[in-house]
Amino acid sequence: LLMDQFTGMDQLEKQLALMFNIDRCLIVSGDSDEQPKVIGDFGELVNEALHRLLPDGRNVIAVMGGTTMAEIARHITPLETNNRKNLFVPARGGIGESVSIQANSVSAVMAANAKGNHRVLYVPEQLSQEAYHTLLKEPSIMDVLATIKQANCVVHSIGRALHMAARRKMLEEEIVSLRQRKAVAESFGYFFDESGQIVYRASRVGLTLEDVQKIPIVLAVAGGKSKAKAIMAYMKNAPKQTWFITDEAAANEILKGV
Ligand code: F6P
Repeated sequence: LLMDQFTGMDQLEKQLALMFNIDRCLIVSGDSDEQPKVIGDFGELVNEALHRLLPDGRNVIAVMGGTTMAEIARHITPLETNNRKNLFVPARGGIGESVSIQANSVSAVMAANAKGNHRVLYVPEQLSQEAYHTLLKEPSIMDVLATIKQANCVVHSIGRALHMAARRKMLEEEIVSLRQRKAVAESFGYFFDESGQIVYRASRVGLTLEDVQKIPIVLAVAGGKSKAKAIMAYMKNAPKQTWFITDEAAANEILKGV
């Protein structure tokens, strides 16, 4: 329904998809920086896309955290059918977000609304190498990690590099290094410069960008004028199969910057 409602945006959507060399772009009217309701509209579109794209059988859906993803989770409706079972997992472990917007929480809310199941991954951020390696040998953790690697769908957001570094309380020296390397975007725990090159990698467990390249269903969601630069940087090397959901404000700013 929503998709039809927004066909006025048709040309802009085609232009953006072409520019980013991705399968599809969906644009919601408004600016999510100023109108929180727009993020709810992203949620409706993600919900519709999942209903449409998830095949019968057993799906593993990996999700990221953040405020956008947390709001999207609230708009998911039952996805289970007799033939379709859905398991939600966090895409990555411990990247220092507060509890309500952690990938584990987003995945739990999505699963509850989708009437599916979910698994949690508890690998905290600040661990010694030793503790970390011990943890990764725990059968329960190995099991969840193996499940995450089977994901056939991933839903993620894109953030501004320095904003994300501050929100995750990264060390001052790391922030200095991000500045020096001109990081502008963050997604999946990776930081990217304007040309889309990876300049830093924060999270250590879960899906890697190489894994994401091979996942058949990829939904990327980010909007607001303030995220235009970050979106452009991440999209330089985004997987071809990506469906990108954004708003008019980001789309216009991106096309202005070309
Ligand atoms: O930390 C998880 C994460 O999805 C990041 O990968 C992304 O940059 C950020 O959150 C987006 O956060 P928000 O939706 O709050 O802008």
